[in-house]
Amino acid sequence: MRSSGYTSVCMHADEFQEALLRVMERKQHWAWPAFTNGRVAKDQLHIHLEHEYAVYVRDFPVMVGRAYVQCPIPEVRRELAENLYEEETGGLAAGRPHPELFMEYPRGLGMDLERFERVTLLPRAKKYRDFLDTATGEKGWDVATAVVTLFIEGTAHERGELDPNAKKRPEPPLEEHPLVKHYGLPIESLKLTKAHRKVEGNHRASAWKSVLGHVKEDRRSAVVKAMEQALMHWLAYRDDVAEACSLKP
Ligand SMILES: [Fe+2]
Repeated sequence: MRSSGYTSVCMHADEFQEALLRVMERKQHWAWPAFTNGRVAKDQLHIHLEHEYAVYVRDFPVMVGRAYVQCPIPEVRRELAENLYEEETGGLAAGRPHPELFMEYPRGLGMDLERFERVTLLPRAKKYRDFLDTATGEKGWDVATAVVTLFIEGTAHERGELDPNAKKRPEPPLEEHPLVKHYGLPIESLKLTKAHRKVEGNHRASAWKSVLGHVKEDRRSAVVKAMEQALMHWLAYRDDVAEACSLKP
């Protein structure tokens, strides 16, 4: 990092990319394996799914929309508009709105769907959601775009999206999906997983192109800071869900 003038601290492009990748590489939570190897009881899995839904899945298209309306760069707006359209309508790939397709998981598992309409967020889930609302609505297009398209949509395998030699995002066969394998979800209920596999490569490439290519040099450290805060809030949110699901580190 280098100083330019008295007030702003600028980051080189390669430093910026590396800092963002390092945040994403830490988007891993100790309790995740318990959800993917079937150790969480089905009635407690409810807590996980309804939280994911209420914390970001249900309103994800709105969050993309917030980035869109703040963005002065037509090229980035076009990418965001495409993402928003697909998420809100499924018109390009999925055929149905993504939040609706998410609900096929609890429906296929025979869960009480009404609970998804009145989720009381755990304290740190609420904090993460409040952070997302502020970061997407009040901090400028660059922070909103990074938090929505890199942090929320991205995984710990982002390096593999940019570097052909890095480990790729794993895509196990659908029969191996934890909800199918351990909780008896019918494969037909994995509509959202299938849709994401269709559009995900595109969304990842477009997210990185928008952020690396268009965030101004003197805004890069603010974007990295917001990404670090997103990570901190996300880890705390996942701690709360793990605890509610009777998991211990
Ligand atoms: Fe989606």
